[in-house]
Amino acid sequence: MIRILLICVIATWVQAQHMDPELTVGPDQCGECHKNELAVWKETKHHKSFFDITRSEEGRQIAQKMGIKRIKRESDCLNCHFTSIPENDAIVPVAGISCESCHGPAKNWIDVHNDYGGKDMKKEDESPDHRVKRLADAIAGGMLRPDNLYLVAENCFQCHTVPNERLVNEGGHTAGSAFELVSWSQGEIRHNFLRSDTGDQNMEASANRKRMMFILGQVLDLEYSLRGTALATAKAEYAVSMAKRSKLAGLRLKKIQETQPVAQVQKIIELADSVELKLNNADALNRVADQISELGQELARSYDGSAFSALDALLPDPSTYKGSPAL
Ligand code: HEC
Ligand code: HEC
Ligand code: HEC
Ligand code: HEC
Repeated sequence: MIRILLICVIATWVQAQHMDPELTVGPDQCGECHKNELAVWKETKHHKSFFDITRSEEGRQIAQKMGIKRIKRESDCLNCHFTSIPENDAIVPVAGISCESCHGPAKNWIDVHNDYGGKDMKKEDESPDHRVKRLADAIAGGMLRPDNLYLVAENCFQCHTVPNERLVNEGGHTAGSAFELVSWSQGEIRHNFLRSDTGDQNMEASANRKRMMFILGQVLDLEYSLRGTALATAKAEYAVSMAKRSKLAGLRLKKIQETQPVAQVQKIIELADSVELKLNNADALNRVADQISELGQELARSYDGSAFSALDALLPDPSTYKGSPAL
């Protein structure tokens, strides 16, 4: 029990940090084995942004207003737009938003997560005990496994809510995306090969998985817009849009709760209603966000979506998915 708790704490701690370049290996290494995932990723805006952003007039204007000379050098842009790794004693941006931006910097897990117990061991030969230990070791090394959807999807919201007051108010950067987890993950981003029978078909997420994504996406939106509101110091665009985002996420969760009552969601709604969305209220807002995070992770562990068929009426239509995958 203590061991499991410790692993959870480490995993949460690791993802709360921005990607540590010293622990990052870059997408090419992943692509040596995950060819299909790499091919899909190469056609996403996450990848293309690496080349586009420095050329875009909008990017130049934001950088200028922020007093930034080189977009690929300044941490304010690097954190969300690039993947950097150590090369020849320097830290160099080598890609846009890439595999490790979502699965965790891989230096300490890349050789662990696929090791079935020695060089000649195949998946079929692995003992159940070894599998449990392998996955636990990968998580301890900082891997965010899709198995815990909350921890993988958390990354999307850390970037897509754009929690940076100066960037929005002074830089004129967009104050967050109109992000919804099902529609934003099932289009161009979708890579879901290992679950297919042949191992190389890009499967649609199952109905159950989509229900879980839908509900957890709203919980994450609420958690991260509360954290974003906690960072607000001035009554301007940033504070106003973050507070509005929190309100809207709360309202959507109420709609979910009316359609499909779930105990954890009820508690989350009550927590959100208990805190004031105002400036200089960071301690209270972050405390509530922490509790919501616990409840969201509990939701992800406790349900697989099969009990939530009523949610199908609320799921976004496939025509609203953001793009389509290359494979
Ligand atoms: C040497 C080959 C190899 C390399 C390199 C590799 N992987 Fe994997 N990966 C695998 C194999 C094999 C599996 C299936 C493991 C299993 O059976 O549980 C896997 C599984 C995964 C999974 C699914 C895990 C799960 O538990 O559901 C993710 C996510 C993943 N890899 C990401 C990455 C990323 C990101 C990189 C680069 C940082 C990477 N892999 C590099 C071989 C590799
Ligand atoms: C907190 C994360 C975050 C930071 C920091 C950040 N961005 Fe962004 N940026 C985003 C997200 C998310 C989007 C996508 C918004 C959307 O949904 O359209 C985006 C979109 C953009 C776009 C429009 C899309 C494009 O590629 O043309 C530009 C330009 C841009 N950012 C420039 C910058 C610059 C310059 C910096 C540094 C001064 C910066 N950003 C820092 C998260 C961030
Ligand atoms: C924008 C975030 C994001 C990026 C970038 C990303 N992944 Fe994933 N990945 C996910 C999510 C979310 C899932 C879980 C999807 C699900 O369970 O339906 C996943 C699932 C996986 C899986 C298991 C499903 C499968 O494809 O077999 C593997 C392996 C994987 N990713 C590898 C990679 C590799 C390699 C890259 C880079 C080339 C990459 N991912 C880039 C978010 C991302
Ligand atoms: C490290 C920061 C980061 C993470 C993590 C991240 N994104 Fe993004 N995402 C961005 C930025 C920046 C852009 C804008 C790129 C551009 O247009 O140049 C973007 C663009 C997108 C787009 C294209 C939007 C459009 O207008 O077509 C989709 C879809 C998307 N992200 C989905 C996701 C999903 C789903 C996840 C989590 C599984 C995720 N992102 C995680 C930073 C991030």
